[in-house]
Amino acid sequence: MAGRFIVFEGIDGAGKSTLIEGISEILTSRGEDVIITAEPTDGPIGSIIRAGEIKNISQNAEALLFTADRAFHTQQMLRWKKSGKTVLCDRYYASTVAYQAANLGGTESEKEWLKEINRPVVTEPDITFLLDIDPEKSMRRVNNRGDASKFEKIEYLRKVRSNYLELAREKGFKIIDASRTGEEVLKEVITIIGE
Ligand code: TYD
Repeated sequence: MAGRFIVFEGIDGAGKSTLIEGISEILTSRGEDVIITAEPTDGPIGSIIRAGEIKNISQNAEALLFTADRAFHTQQMLRWKKSGKTVLCDRYYASTVAYQAANLGGTESEKEWLKEINRPVVTEPDITFLLDIDPEKSMRRVNNRGDASKFEKIEYLRKVRSNYLELAREKGFKIIDASRTGEEVLKEVITIIGE
């Protein structure tokens, strides 16, 4: 039996990691063969991105790197799904559209370009959850974690959030109110997955 491919999106501090762990535990206890994966990946291109080894690259080049990493990852995830696994993926193409559009300036033609470069390298997930939260709130969580990076600026995240919401409406992502407790969010998401 073919598996499932489920994606989780959201701004930094939205609570994706904790939610994914919770979902994984529940689905595993129900007998599903679950695999957790993330972008940027720990593969060859993802590692370069994560290490921040390439300095002073253009925003366009950065978008292409994230997308190249994804091309490799999509093939891997399709194999996992085909072998019956439930694939839980932390970020996918919506991250590139939302974040890189915010970096580039966010015009319609830039968003179109980002969608266009992703089109040949993605497969449509069975379901995508957008954990939606006000950046002020998510930043408080992140600051508590003490790992604020250059991506984690409130003004910037406002643009990212708005790009996410626009894409979510266009693509039919499930928009989840992530300002609630982790328990409440988990309960809602697991109910939707169960249906
Ligand atoms: P991630 O490791 O998910 O960080 P966190 O666990 O803090 O959410 O992602 C690192 C950063 O990379 C994050 O700020 C979002 C950004 N990113 C992009 O800008 N474009 C992309 O395509 C992806 C996958 C991530």
